[in-house]
Amino acid sequence: MATIDPWKAEDIGNYDKLLSEFGIEDFGKIVRRFDKSNMLMRRNIIFGHIDFERILNNIKKKQDFAMLTGLMPSGKFHVGHKMLADQIIYYQNLGAKIFICVADVEAYNMRLASMEKLRRTAIDEYLINYIALGLKPKNCDFYFQSSRSKDSKKTNAYHKLISLSSKKVTMNQLKAIYGDITPGKIMSVMHQVADILHPELPEFGGKKPVVVPVGADQAPHLRLTRDIAAGFTKSKEYDFIPPSSTYHKFMKGLNGHKMSSSDPYSYVALTDSEKVVKEKIIKHAFSGGRDTLKEHREKGGIPELDVSYQMLYFMFEEDDKKLKKIHDDYKSGKLLTGELKQILLEKLTKFLATHQEKREKAKDKIHDFTD
Ligand code: TRP
Repeated sequence: MATIDPWKAEDIGNYDKLLSEFGIEDFGKIVRRFDKSNMLMRRNIIFGHIDFERILNNIKKKQDFAMLTGLMPSGKFHVGHKMLADQIIYYQNLGAKIFICVADVEAYNMRLASMEKLRRTAIDEYLINYIALGLKPKNCDFYFQSSRSKDSKKTNAYHKLISLSSKKVTMNQLKAIYGDITPGKIMSVMHQVADILHPELPEFGGKKPVVVPVGADQAPHLRLTRDIAAGFTKSKEYDFIPPSSTYHKFMKGLNGHKMSSSDPYSYVALTDSEKVVKEKIIKHAFSGGRDTLKEHREKGGIPELDVSYQMLYFMFEEDDKKLKKIHDDYKSGKLLTGELKQILLEKLTKFLATHQEKREKAKDKIHDFTD
């Protein structure tokens, strides 16, 4: 039985186990030879990869590559979602052709909402925030699983790939990977396989390395996709370079458990007002501090358990030296929980105020991304 169910809102406890179970390699070794400017990479938040060397090579030689990833338009866009947005924009700035898939078929099959509502959420929440964060229309293909393109040649090629993929996998294989499998899940999986592979079709620019940045819970889908790609290449029906991928850890929710779109008090949304954010952090962010001031001064706080510290680590304190000082002062008991929360709030409210202004301007640019 698989250890990850990509459709269950569970915490992933042990990232090391994932490395071995899914043949994922340590990203730390790549970072040493690559780019220390990217905070998510440098801090090991992006902790694993498969075949990233191929992407590295193309970046170095300035040869073409693409990035494809997908989103479930499930609700409010929050700080956890921003991690993936930052990666998308990072690859766009490196010159990659960008493919962003709105997994509306998957979300519908998982009973998240109606198709209409999913489309609206994808645009009003995800796309607008991506644009405000810096996504540009050039070389960017933002599409919906349910309506791939106005160009019927492209749409047909995508759907042909979905259909033919099913022959390359058996029911037993699906059961072994996903455990409890349903028709809706099977359709979602076959769409995702085609999402990941289709940038290499002639209709979409032809064979090239593709990197797929995802959260660690998507590892089962990537393994299956690589198997199917190899099957197609072997039978000479298609000729794919196996997709590369990277895996990031999840930011903890405010309550110290999983951040989830269905619980507003587990996240900070990028549209939250200053007042709401203050309340969320001060009242709801789980603290790694001690019960009494005396005990805190004596024993110190636990940064690893403290959600405010974790938010600084994952996103809001870019300066490694400053972060280390916050970490050490908190751990020694010099810095109190209230003070730590103020440090985070200052960063967070400043970011959100600027971001929300950019969001207003982004609304006019939606049509540059959708057909
Ligand atoms: N299953 C992904 C999720 O739950 C969404 C998705 C669909 C996706 N197609 C994809 C992710 C292709 C990466 C690549 O978020």
